[in-house]
Amino acid sequence: MPWSEITPRQFDSMEKELDGISKQTMQDHYKLYEGYCKKTNETRKILKDFDYSEIEGNQVYSALRATAVDYTFALLGFKNHELYFGHLGGSGGEPDGRFAELIEEELGVDAWKDSVRKSASAARGWVMVGYDLNDGSIFNYIMDTQNLWAVYNMVPVLALDVYEHAYARDFGATPDGRKEYVEAFFRNLDWDHVNRQVAQAEAAREAAQAAGRESDA
Ligand SMILES: [Fe+2]
Repeated sequence: MPWSEITPRQFDSMEKELDGISKQTMQDHYKLYEGYCKKTNETRKILKDFDYSEIEGNQVYSALRATAVDYTFALLGFKNHELYFGHLGGSGGEPDGRFAELIEEELGVDAWKDSVRKSASAARGWVMVGYDLNDGSIFNYIMDTQNLWAVYNMVPVLALDVYEHAYARDFGATPDGRKEYVEAFFRNLDWDHVNRQVAQAEAAREAAQAAGRESDA
C-alpha cells in the first residue's frame, strides 16, 4: 500500500474539561502532536527522494542515518499521542472488560496500577502498555523517548505520556508533580477505548493464528 501523508486528527478529549489536566496543557500538547505529524511527512518525503545509489551511508553521521532515526521519533510521536489523546476524556475508575481480565491473569489489577505508577516515575518519556501479538500478554514498557525500547509485534493499548510538557503547567515539574499527574491521568481514562484497542489486537492475533494453521494444513 503506498504511503500517503498523515494528518492530525480531532479528539474529544480536547473539547472536554478534564479533571486536573488543563485545557491549556492539552492545547499546547496538541501543537506538539501537529508538529510530529508535519515532521513525519517531511522526513518520509526526504527518505523517499534520496538517491540511494549515490547517498552516503555512514554510522557516525549521514543524512540517511539522521533522517531515518528522526523519522521514527516523529512517527511514533504521532502514533503515541493518537492513543494518548484518544483515551483521555473518559470517566476513569478501575480497569474493566477484557483488559482487566488480561491483567488479572498476570499482575492483578492493583499490582498493575502500582507498576504503571512506578514505571511513570522511572520513564523519561512514556509508559506504553502493550498487547503482544505473539503470546497475547500485556506488558508495561518504559520508553525513554518516543522511539526507544518498545518491541516488535506489540500493539499499544494504553499510553501514558510522562514528558514534562504533559504535566509541568498543572502539577509542577517535580517528581511529586508527576505522581499527581499520573493519578489525574487515571481519573480521565476511557477504559472503553483501551478495551477497543485490546479487541483489535486480539482479533489480529487470532487472524494470524488462523492463517498460520491454514498454511500448516
Ligand atoms: Fe507528549
